[in-house]
Amino acid sequence: MRDMEHRESGLPARKVRESQSEMIEIVLPNDANPLGALLGGRLMHWIDIAGALAAHRHSRSYVVTASIDHLDFLVPVHVGDLVIFQSSVNRAFNTSMETGVKVSVESYVTGERRHVSTAYLTFVAVDRHGRHRTVPQVIPETDEEQRRFEDAGRRRDARRTEMERKRKARAGRQ
Ligand SMILES: CC(C)(COP(=O)(O)OP(=O)(O)OC[C@H]1O[C@@H](n2cnc3c(N)ncnc32)[C@H](O)[C@@H]1OP(=O)(O)O)[C@@H](O)C(=O)NCCC(=O)NCCS
Repeated sequence: MRDMEHRESGLPARKVRESQSEMIEIVLPNDANPLGALLGGRLMHWIDIAGALAAHRHSRSYVVTASIDHLDFLVPVHVGDLVIFQSSVNRAFNTSMETGVKVSVESYVTGERRHVSTAYLTFVAVDRHGRHRTVPQVIPETDEEQRRFEDAGRRRDARRTEMERKRKARAGRQ
């Protein structure tokens, strides 16, 4: 079983819904380019914070961002739009957690909501001295949470394979 590789933390596991979070931002002129479109970098900053919210709540700990997977921006976001970030911890491993952030844009005039992006971030729990901390496991309750839990395991395997490939490539160049 995959989770046999994870250290026994002795910490009680937590349900996904216990750390699920929502953050809302309104796009102001300082967040946008001269044409009034939201800057990609600002959106990435908010995604990082929204993902960290769920990771903090799940682990009840300080966290650092270890990685952010590939991001697509599917529709533009403009000054005056509301941006909604829904985050949850998909799966916890030993000291790290994968958090999913779904980003939507809402026009508060029409109420129309559109999907902007989905991001997967890995956070590592640390103490105040920066030492890694073991995190509680996640209890998926719904079919959707179970699917995300399993997908998170596959993504972790893919990340580790890629990190190993890069490590070998670096070693080969030295
Ligand atoms: C991320 C960081 C904590 C990893 O620490 P490390 O000692 O190099 O890594 P380790 O091999 O001990 O791995 C610790 C955990 O992080 C995970 N991890 C490390 N690098 C990762 C990456 N690039 N992507 C996803 N997970 C990663 C490991 O899988 C491991 O998870 P596990 O304990 O659940 O099995 C460390 O590289 C760091 O502090 N980076 C800077 C973080 C930061 O400042 N972020 C803000 C942006 S500047």
